[in-house]
Amino acid sequence: MNRKKDIYILACLFTVTFFSCKHGEGEYHSLYDKIEAESKVYHDTTMTSEAFLNDIKTIKITEGEHTFLIPERKGQIKSYACIECHTEPLDKLKSKDIKKAHWDINIAHADKSTMNCATCHNGNDMNNLNTLTGIKVDFNSSYKLCAQCHSSQFEDWKGGAHGKRIGGWVAPRASFTCVNCHNPHSPSFETRWPSRFNTEQIEESHEGLAH
Ligand code: HEC
Ligand code: HEC
Ligand code: HEC
Ligand code: HEC
Repeated sequence: MNRKKDIYILACLFTVTFFSCKHGEGEYHSLYDKIEAESKVYHDTTMTSEAFLNDIKTIKITEGEHTFLIPERKGQIKSYACIECHTEPLDKLKSKDIKKAHWDINIAHADKSTMNCATCHNGNDMNNLNTLTGIKVDFNSSYKLCAQCHSSQFEDWKGGAHGKRIGGWVAPRASFTCVNCHNPHSPSFETRWPSRFNTEQIEESHEGLAH
């Protein structure tokens, strides 16, 4: 009985050896060599994600060891350029207007005692954003503002772990910037049901899926 088993195992071993040598003796010296050689096709430098960016205008940024593209913002902001109206200091503008110009902007972000408009906007230079220490930041680089307080999300985003790519996975890397997903004035997402929520508790048919 045992002898039969031994022969069987030997036969199996033989088959394994036989097949693993099939791709030419000496063609690959090791498994590493084989993986490297056979994955060369994936290192195709002619492939590009550019076609998937569509009409999105991008700018190139470098943060630490990461260089990638993010969408341009200024062309997307309705009330830019701000200096079309913000030609004089805020207190002068305010005394003229009774109604609030930006009545539709309400802060639902940090606490009122830690955050107001001036945390990010500088009344003397409305066309640029403004850090906590008073350094001007271009509207296209608004992620720098967020990074001041949300450093861990910023670190993740730089490496590509937080957020999402715009095109494919091959170069050039293009990623959405913070304000593409988060409204800076009200950044958290509201809780909601899944878009496909089965209230009937009936099993979905394949026909149903097609509709
Ligand atoms: C169509 C004119 C207009 C444009 C364009 C405009 N603003 Fe204003 N904004 C005003 C006026 C008028 C006030 C002052 C009255 C008020 O408080 O609403 C004001 C006030 C503000 C305030 C102070 C609000 C407060 O409650 O203290 C901020 C901050 C501000 N604007 C930011 C911006 C930024 C940033 C832009 C550009 C992205 C911009 N505005 C573009 C007209 C404008
Ligand atoms: C946490 C930082 C932050 C605070 C606080 C903040 N803003 Fe902004 N605001 C931004 C950023 C960043 C943008 C640009 C967003 C983008 O790229 O779409 C912006 C854009 C705007 C715009 C242009 C929006 C548009 O779609 O036309 C206006 C106007 C504005 N802010 C006014 C205000 C006012 C008024 C307050 C206070 C009530 C305020 N902001 C508070 C960061 C902030
Ligand atoms: C001055 C500091 C400060 C800046 C600048 C700032 N935030 Fe915040 N943010 C806070 C605080 C404080 C909270 C509320 C506490 C919390 O939930 O972590 C918050 C909350 C949030 C939340 C919700 C967190 C949750 O758990 O639901 C998001 C998302 C967010 N911020 C994104 C942004 C983005 C995007 C920017 C840049 C446009 C930004 N923040 C700029 C301080 C800041
Ligand atoms: C592609 C969209 C996208 C981009 C870009 C993005 N976020 Fe988020 N962010 C999300 C989603 C989705 C969540 C999870 C929200 C939830 O759980 O309700 C989130 C959560 C957060 C939170 C809440 C805490 C957490 O980690 O869950 C903070 C703070 C935050 N983001 C900040 C940022 C900052 C700062 C940037 C830019 C450096 C950024 N995000 C870029 C989609 C994005």
